[in-house]
Amino acid sequence: MLKEYNFDLSSRNTFRMKARCACFVEYGSVDELYSIDFDSLPKPVKHIGGGSNLLFTGDFPGTILHSAIKYVKYVDLGLDEVPVVVGSGVVWDDLVAELCGHGLWGAENLSLIPGEVGAAAVQNIGAYGVEIKDLISGVSCFDLQEKKPCKFSVGECAYGYRESMFKESGGRYIITSVLLRVSRVPRPRLEYKGLAGVDPSSPGAIRDAIIAIRRTKLPDPEETGSAGSFFKNPVITAADFVRVCDAAAPGSIVPHYVLDGGMIKVPAAWLIDQCGFKGEKEGGAAVYEKQPLVIVNATGSATPGDVLELERRIIATVHEKFGVELHPEVEHI
Ligand code: EPU
Repeated sequence: MLKEYNFDLSSRNTFRMKARCACFVEYGSVDELYSIDFDSLPKPVKHIGGGSNLLFTGDFPGTILHSAIKYVKYVDLGLDEVPVVVGSGVVWDDLVAELCGHGLWGAENLSLIPGEVGAAAVQNIGAYGVEIKDLISGVSCFDLQEKKPCKFSVGECAYGYRESMFKESGGRYIITSVLLRVSRVPRPRLEYKGLAGVDPSSPGAIRDAIIAIRRTKLPDPEETGSAGSFFKNPVITAADFVRVCDAAAPGSIVPHYVLDGGMIKVPAAWLIDQCGFKGEKEGGAAVYEKQPLVIVNATGSATPGDVLELERRIIATVHEKFGVELHPEVEHI
C-alpha cells in the first residue's frame, strides 16, 4: 500500500493540472482496501481512476484513493459468452487490447479510451455506438458507508448516457472488480457513422480502425494534456431543437440524433464550433482545433482558472446563441 501526505497529483490527472492532496492512498488488493482505517484519513475522501475525466480546480484538502487492483480472470475461455472478472485498477485500453488478442468481441469499439476499469464502470464510458454497460453483468464494490463488500447487477447500476447509480451515490461505493461478458461469436458493431467500410473480420481489425479514427480527432495524451470530451452532448426537446435550427447559419443542416421518446441529441462539438471557439485560447488552455468538444492544456502550464474561464465562456456563448445549456462531462474536484 502506498500512503503519502501532501502528494503531488500532476502525474495522476491527464489534464496535468498542478494540484496537491493532503493524503494519497493507493491499495493493491481488496484485502488492502478493507484494512484501511478510513476514520483516520483527512476528509473528504475521494476515489479516482486514471484521472482522465477529472479537473482538479485547486488543491484537495482530503484524501485521494486509487485502486491498483490489477488482474484479469477468464472464467471459461471455451464458452460462446466468456465471463471475465477484471480488477478496477486495470488500464481499460490494456484490457481491450488483451480481449481483442484473444479474438473476443464486445470491447473493440471502446479502444483507446483513457482511464481504468473501475472509473469506466462509474461513468459508463462510450464511443462508436457501444457503452461499457453493454458488456457489464455485475460490479463488486466496497460500501464506504456500511464498511462492507457488496455486489450489483447491471440493472442495479442504473446506467444512462455517462450516468450511473455510482455517480449518483456521491462516492459511497468503491468498485473493486467488474464482471464483463464478451463473445467468441462475431459481433461487429459498425452502425455508427464514420465506421462504414471498416474491416469486420476480427475484433482486432475493428480496434485498429477505431484507433486510427481517434488519433485523427483527439489529442495524443502523451503530447497534450486533456480530459477527453469536456462537455456532454446535450439532449433537448423538439421545441428547443427548432430554436437551434432558427439560430443556425442560413442553409446549414444541424446534425442531430432522435432518441427513443422523441428527445433530440445535438453534438456539443457542433454547437461550440458554430460559436467560433475552435482553437480559442485562455491562458495556457485552448479549445482543440480538430475536436472542439475537447479542452486541452495547450502550453502544459494551463491553470485550473484558465480551464474554468474557457468553460464559462463556452457555456455562456452557446447558451446565448442557441438557448442550449451545456453541462461538463469532466468531473470538477
Ligand atoms: N463536429 C463539428 N465540428 C467539429 C467536430 C465535430 O461540428 O470540429 C460535430 C459533427 O457534426 C460530428 C459531431 O460533432 O458529426 C459528433 O462528433 P463525433 O460523433 O465524432 O463525437 P462526439 O459526439 O463529439 C462522442 C463522445 C466521445 C466518443 C465519440 C465517438 C461524448 C461527450 N463524447 O463525441 O467520447 O469518442 O462520441 O463515439 O459523448 C469522451 O467521452 O471523452 C469521448 C471522447
